[in-house]
Amino acid sequence: MTTEEAVDLGAMGDRFTRDPYSVYAALRARGPVHRVRIPEGALAWLVVGYEEGRAALADQRLSKQWALASPALGVRPVSSGRSMLSTDAPVHTRLRKLVTREFTPRRMQQLVPRVRRMTDELLDTMLAQPGRRTDLVESLAFPLPMSVICELLGVPFLDRRAFRAWSNTAVSSIDAAARRAATADMSRYLAGLLDDKREQPGDDLMSALIHTADEDGDRLSAEELMGMAWLLLVAGHETTVSLISNGVLALLTHPEQLEALRADPGLIDDAVEEMLRYAGPIETPTYRFTTGPLDIGGTVIPGGGELVLIAMADANRDPDRYPDADRFDITRDARGHVAFGHGIHYCLGAPLARIEAAVAVGSLLERCPELALDTDPDTLTWRTGMLIRGPEALPVRW
Ligand code: HEM
Repeated sequence: MTTEEAVDLGAMGDRFTRDPYSVYAALRARGPVHRVRIPEGALAWLVVGYEEGRAALADQRLSKQWALASPALGVRPVSSGRSMLSTDAPVHTRLRKLVTREFTPRRMQQLVPRVRRMTDELLDTMLAQPGRRTDLVESLAFPLPMSVICELLGVPFLDRRAFRAWSNTAVSSIDAAARRAATADMSRYLAGLLDDKREQPGDDLMSALIHTADEDGDRLSAEELMGMAWLLLVAGHETTVSLISNGVLALLTHPEQLEALRADPGLIDDAVEEMLRYAGPIETPTYRFTTGPLDIGGTVIPGGGELVLIAMADANRDPDRYPDADRFDITRDARGHVAFGHGIHYCLGAPLARIEAAVAVGSLLERCPELALDTDPDTLTWRTGMLIRGPEALPVRW
């Protein structure tokens, strides 16, 4: 296949940013693997559909190491340091093992009362605003995950506005220079945070990671600590922000589903699974590179560090896996979705994200019986780039 045959997703501009689902579905009708030019400019191989997408997510012949990326791609990492998401086994196994015990569903359940308190405080502030309207991203969807992850990591004071701007640019901008500048700013900031923690350790995860050695005497290098801080802070909030916003948007634009959830609040966990399936925050996960020729569904992707992207947003909307897949239905069995990935890189924070979304959306509906969208959904501005799917702002009223 030649470059000329690539589907130029970037050239589709706003149409693709607003509704990537129909673009992916049209590609899926033609087969599971496509040569595309992504909005960031690079040429990539895009995998669509559930079966091939899920298999590719777990295929360890696809590497996460940037050092293996073909220089011809012209892509650069957005994060700093070395982390789980930029390594393969066995380095990945070692890094993940050091934090796995901190993120078990049981440990996360212990956070529920705290997440509830934080949500209540945010809703108190929101409901006290004059005019009975707000941007829900600003009032709830962003500050909740940010506060939770900061508390977990022991970041007492974070310049959240600056951090949010850097993080948003680093993961969503399609301008390479802007991404590089934001990455550099954020790395300087995190280096300062890590220095503070070294001098004044607290009773928190970051201090523990700096000082703890595991049973084998393993320690994180400075580069790995930076990678871990970066990954946990960014992955720990960017995605959950969009899960809460996308989820509330789906409910407000499907009144019968909202009604069903209001009638039976016990449906909240099923509703969150359906939000993850129908409007998951990650459209295509982090980059993977070929280490040798790879046959996916009859198309052989060459080796040599070719970029492979997996359209998780499309896998979750594949009608071969989910009947009537484009329909938002909180009563369906949404299990098996790949919104948290699949395989060795399966999201470490999934239990936490589920708790935050269930508490945030559940409490919001309870406290705002007349919650409604305060804008035409067709006019919402969506995050650019193919990583995060979520609105920049979500105007609501009550
Ligand atoms: C709705 C919220 C979230 C979604 C949809 C999500 C999604 C994902 C996905 C798709 C991956 C795999 C990426 C890949 O294979 O390329 C991943 C990995 C990861 N996520 Fe999440 N995530 C969410 C929330 C969180 C939270 C709250 C945390 C941390 C507190 C977190 C920490 C991580 C980490 C550390 C990894 C890397 C795991 C590894 O490489 O072994 N995530 N996440």
